[in-house]
Amino acid sequence: MKTITSLMNFLKKLASYFYPIKVHEIPSKRSGAIEVTLVNGKLVIDSENANYSYGSLQKILKKGLLLFDKNKLQQCKNILVLGVAGGSVIETLQDDFNLIDAKITGIEIDETVLNIAKKYFKIDKKPNVTLLIADAFHFIKTSNEIYDLIIIDIFNDQNMPKELFTDVFWNHIHRILSTNGLCLFNSIPTSFTTNTKNKVLAQFLKSLFRQVRRKQIEINELFVLEK
Ligand SMILES: C[S@@+](CC[C@H](N)C(=O)[O-])C[C@H]1O[C@@H](n2cnc3c(N)ncnc32)[C@H](O)[C@@H]1O
Repeated sequence: MKTITSLMNFLKKLASYFYPIKVHEIPSKRSGAIEVTLVNGKLVIDSENANYSYGSLQKILKKGLLLFDKNKLQQCKNILVLGVAGGSVIETLQDDFNLIDAKITGIEIDETVLNIAKKYFKIDKKPNVTLLIADAFHFIKTSNEIYDLIIIDIFNDQNMPKELFTDVFWNHIHRILSTNGLCLFNSIPTSFTTNTKNKVLAQFLKSLFRQVRRKQIEINELFVLEK
């Protein structure tokens, strides 16, 4: 029986190099349907209209992290991830940047997504990772902990909440970031409006951070910030 299951899994993995294979689908109030799909032998999470975790998003965030000085990044001891989904950036931090001893706190608002992350990606079994079901915007207002690296990757399907573009939000991010701390903000300027919002935000961030870089990677625009 075990041999047949292993053989079936192997064949599915092989087939996923030719076409995506849906493994799980669950409705989510915030993100439409959440799907776990096998693509090129690896599981990814998609919301109704966007790649939510692993796959191309993981590659994009890794490219963003590579824009920081490697030594500075590897000195980060306390890391905050706002918007966890399946936790692909947590995997990247630990596996590709060797941040295995750093304390990582992940904040995710959608319990449905987090349950998928636990079931399919064993995100809760990773060392030094604490996952909280909470609203990131509330969390940062009330947090007094100081972080060396903050990754902001908050979407509801394709939409970025309006709070991401407020001074209040960024003042709090700045407050809980350590001296010389690093921050990566993932944005997707899908329309003229978000493009304009990003421009206005960049101006404001220049008044808060020592260094503000905007990098276009595929359709994403990453803000690479240093305090
Ligand atoms: C693109 S996914 C995050 C991907 C993740 N960073 C990774 O590396 O795999 C965006 C996530 O933001 C979450 N989200 C949306 N609004 C939120 C909020 N107010 N607080 C916390 N998480 C939120 C969504 O539920 C979704 O899981």
